[in-house]
Amino acid sequence: MKPTLLPDIPATHPERIAPDTWLIPNLASAGDGMFLPVNSMVIRGREPVIVDTGAPLHRALWIEKAFSVVEPEDVRWIFLSHDDGDHTGALLDVLERCPQATLVTNFFAVERLALEKPALPLQRMRWLEPGDRLDIGDRVLKLFRPPIFDGPTTRGLFDSKSGAMWIVDSFACLTPGPLDADALSAEALASMSAMNSAVSPWHAWLDRVSYGRHVDAVEALGATTVASAHGPVLRGGALDDAFDRLRGLAGSPIIPTPGQELLDTLLATTLAEAAG
Ligand SMILES: [Fe+2]
Ligand SMILES: [Fe+2]
Repeated sequence: MKPTLLPDIPATHPERIAPDTWLIPNLASAGDGMFLPVNSMVIRGREPVIVDTGAPLHRALWIEKAFSVVEPEDVRWIFLSHDDGDHTGALLDVLERCPQATLVTNFFAVERLALEKPALPLQRMRWLEPGDRLDIGDRVLKLFRPPIFDGPTTRGLFDSKSGAMWIVDSFACLTPGPLDADALSAEALASMSAMNSAVSPWHAWLDRVSYGRHVDAVEALGATTVASAHGPVLRGGALDDAFDRLRGLAGSPIIPTPGQELLDTLLATTLAEAAG
């Protein structure tokens, strides 16, 4: 089936990024020819796992792409990294279409979701915390707290069998289209620091030594392929650089996000276009 394209958004397709591991990509326009990735992931082992369910904006595309990689009736686990809307876009669809699937989440995520979604089936859940493990038949996945996050319920996932890691909202980075860090310019990758700062501005008050220990612990898990919801796939030197960027944020000033000046520019452009 031909994917439905959103206007001016480059087409993206599911991509095998590690053994048994597929990135489910989508892009959202970020202006000036750049795009924000809105990814999720599928682990297609003995007990297949859907890792996050995309954004509402991409719901139909997400369903088409995710279920081109795994049959809904085969899915055994839905790993929800946290309750933010851009990770729960197709959650209700997945619960309905995947009757064999158990939702892996946590107490506080469910509390927060109760304010915006219909009641979720408690009898189909498992609540896990950072440090806990999930046995999915042919491998054991380890949960951890990512070094950058914008929701307190956030848990990352590491698959030691494939070497793949899902680091959620850490390592966000704009792209002109490619979803592999090795295909991005140094300039594009440099946007990662500003994105990390926007996601977790509390880095300005972090102690470098204690935060460095946390970054070290995540890096020491030994991932060889790191995928995230809003950045390119990282491996090798690009991955080393990404961890180093994190360490550099501790105790550094917040990187300002655009303000009224950008809004004025956007409005002026919109008005000029409307005037024809
Ligand atoms: Fe988030
Ligand atoms: Fe996100």
